[in-house]
Amino acid sequence: MGHRVFRDSRVTTHVCLTARALGASGVIIANSPDKGVESSVREVVKRFGGSFQVETGPEWRHVIRGWKGEGGKVLHLTAYGLPLPKVIDQIQAVRADLLVVVGSEKMPGEMFKLADWNVSVTSQPMSEVGALAVFLDWYHSHMEFELDFPGSEMQIVPSKEGKIVKEVSRVACKSLALD
Ligand SMILES: C[S@@+](CC[C@H](N)C(=O)[O-])C[C@H]1O[C@@H](n2cnc3c(N)ncnc32)[C@H](O)[C@@H]1O
Repeated sequence: MGHRVFRDSRVTTHVCLTARALGASGVIIANSPDKGVESSVREVVKRFGGSFQVETGPEWRHVIRGWKGEGGKVLHLTAYGLPLPKVIDQIQAVRADLLVVVGSEKMPGEMFKLADWNVSVTSQPMSEVGALAVFLDWYHSHMEFELDFPGSEMQIVPSKEGKIVKEVSRVACKSLALD
């Protein structure tokens, strides 16, 4: 929520890429249509695989009401919420789709009321990217290294030094020069 086109595009793209890498199914950027962010994220999905969805523009209350109307739960990440270690078990136990809300600026008070949980990652102010990363790591019980991203054009091959990328379509390996 609160994405400002141009000003926030880089951080908002990082929110999307972090969500994707750590196992979310997609992201909705409320209120602000931004084709630039959409195409950056879709380009990563095309190259690195998976089926991560990105949508920009729908009004935030409409998204939340629609989500809840279909039986989903809403979790708002905020420094003012209950500490993550105290609530993670009950959140993981719920078998509904989860919408995790982060903001780029001050959130409306109404958000705190609409959320099923207001959850903090420490009671200190931090970045939405950092808070989202820690939450998803806990939510997925630190299993993100096991995630599959099918249909990729390329895969990163972990290496001690250098950058090794496998081009999946050509079943070839090539080392890219260091920056
Ligand atoms: C940079 S903060 C903006 C905070 C804003 N200045 C305010 O007073 O509400 C951006 C977002 O990061 C998330 N965030 C920041 N600190 C957090 C924390 N300790 N725990 C959970 N989420 C946090 C919240 O989603 C927040 O909306």
